[in-house]
Amino acid sequence: MQISFEKVNFSYNPKTLYERQALSNINLDIPRGKFTTIIGKTGSGKSTLIEHINGLLIADSGSVKLGNLKVEKKSSRRERGKMDQDLFNVREKIAVLFQFSEQQLFETNVLKDIIFAPINYGIDHDLAVKRAKELINLVGLDESYLERSPFELSGGEMRKVALCGILALKPKILVLDEPTIGLDFKSKQEFMTIIDRIHKEEKITIVFVTHNMDYVLEYADNIVIMKNGKVAFNSSDKGDFLEIISREDYNLKKPDFIIFQELLKKRGINLSRTHYSYKSLTSELVSLVGASHE
Ligand SMILES: Nc1ncnc2c1ncn2[C@@H]1O[C@H](COP(=O)(O)OP(=O)(O)OP(=O)(O)O)[C@@H](O)[C@H]1O
Ligand SMILES: [Mg+2]
Repeated sequence: MQISFEKVNFSYNPKTLYERQALSNINLDIPRGKFTTIIGKTGSGKSTLIEHINGLLIADSGSVKLGNLKVEKKSSRRERGKMDQDLFNVREKIAVLFQFSEQQLFETNVLKDIIFAPINYGIDHDLAVKRAKELINLVGLDESYLERSPFELSGGEMRKVALCGILALKPKILVLDEPTIGLDFKSKQEFMTIIDRIHKEEKITIVFVTHNMDYVLEYADNIVIMKNGKVAFNSSDKGDFLEIISREDYNLKKPDFIIFQELLKKRGINLSRTHYSYKSLTSELVSLVGASHE
């Protein structure tokens, strides 16, 4: 499913003293099957942008295309009712994990939480339970968790359960708003490995909001920078991305493995290419060291 923003404007508290324009003239295509990261200073409009992807927020002007559905402001009650029904259908395909997703949990046990959406969409109870078991294993928790109260879990476990809940509908698009914030190092890594696996194995489109430069460089096929409610950069070129963040003030710092490669270059050690993860950089360094010993 293709997602396209066309001339989208959005303000919070319109026509009041507290009016705040959060998005201005957004034109953006989110490519199908790709891993798109959205980065930018706090308050730049990232969460507001993604809340338009499942119609939680509707543009004041302009439109958002979700596959064949054009989501835009409707004036008549009849049109609004039709839009709500269309959005219900399209939301089955678009899963959103909001900032602090543990707050999305509400049922008395984990199983009920995970099967809530599938049952709501008319999926057979036994099939929904079967899927819940598969998902809890996928996120690295054992099936005994299904009987536990979601409110007795650690923050990292809660995030994983919330992820199961939104994956239970087998979405085509997975939208994640800073999913690893506040987790410890190991939980962050586990979470990212799961997301990367789902993306590669299920070919799901990922829209990933983050402040973490390492994630952008390691996982993104496509990078969007938001600035003051506008799209300031939209490209798959990581070299261009690194250049723009060095030139302009986005409160972003190059990861250490990039600085390290720049130092190597200054010392006359030329690598075959710029590496965008420690793993890939280490592989080349190991082969260089190996070659120098032969
Ligand atoms: N519910 C709201 N009511 C009024 N203004 C809001 C509301 N939510 C966000 N805003 C304002 O809209 C702008 C964009 O906010 P948004 O939450 O989209 O930023 P963000 O890029 O997600 O920031 P962060 O990185 O801190 O999560 C900000 O100026 C913010 O103050
Ligand atoms: Mg946000």
